[in-house]
Amino acid sequence: MEQNTIMLVQDSFEKVKPIADTAAKIFYDKLFKLDPSLKSIFPKSEEAMAIQGNKLMTMLGSAVAGLNNLEMLVPVLENLGKRHVDYKVEPSHYNTVGSALLSTLETGLGDEFTPDVKDAWAKVYGTMSSVMIKASY
Ligand code: HEM
Repeated sequence: MEQNTIMLVQDSFEKVKPIADTAAKIFYDKLFKLDPSLKSIFPKSEEAMAIQGNKLMTMLGSAVAGLNNLEMLVPVLENLGKRHVDYKVEPSHYNTVGSALLSTLETGLGDEFTPDVKDAWAKVYGTMSSVMIKASY
């Protein structure tokens, strides 16, 4: 992966971190608007969803931080992907989550979500999700 892609993603994620709770809420709102049927595989309670949002942001944070060291990141993502099979996640869901994620970043970063930043995130999410999918289905 190109150094510039990694840098754009890491720098922009730093700006999302302080608003991680809000970003997680926005993310699930967008996700469930894109595909309401996904609600059924997530926890029902607000509290459990807040915890879930936290886990997602923390995991995204470690993945983004680990982009410089893909050999270490890949097995973590492979295991994460395999656990997602148990959560009833299907390969096609990764596209929906990717759209919700990019749209959340656009909302959260505003003008700072430039076309270059968008491309960089699309590349990084594409790589992460293909590692998760390949290991799992
Ligand atoms: C890069 C992509 C993704 C990342 C980083 C991610 C991250 C996480 C993390 C960290 C957890 C906590 C449990 C664990 O570690 O095993 C989790 C659980 C979960 N994820 Fe993901 N996920 C991703 C993609 C997806 C996709 C595509 C879906 C499909 C809608 C999804 C749905 C779920 C569900 C249903 C749970 C379990 C919730 C629960 O029962 O508590 N995730 N995810």
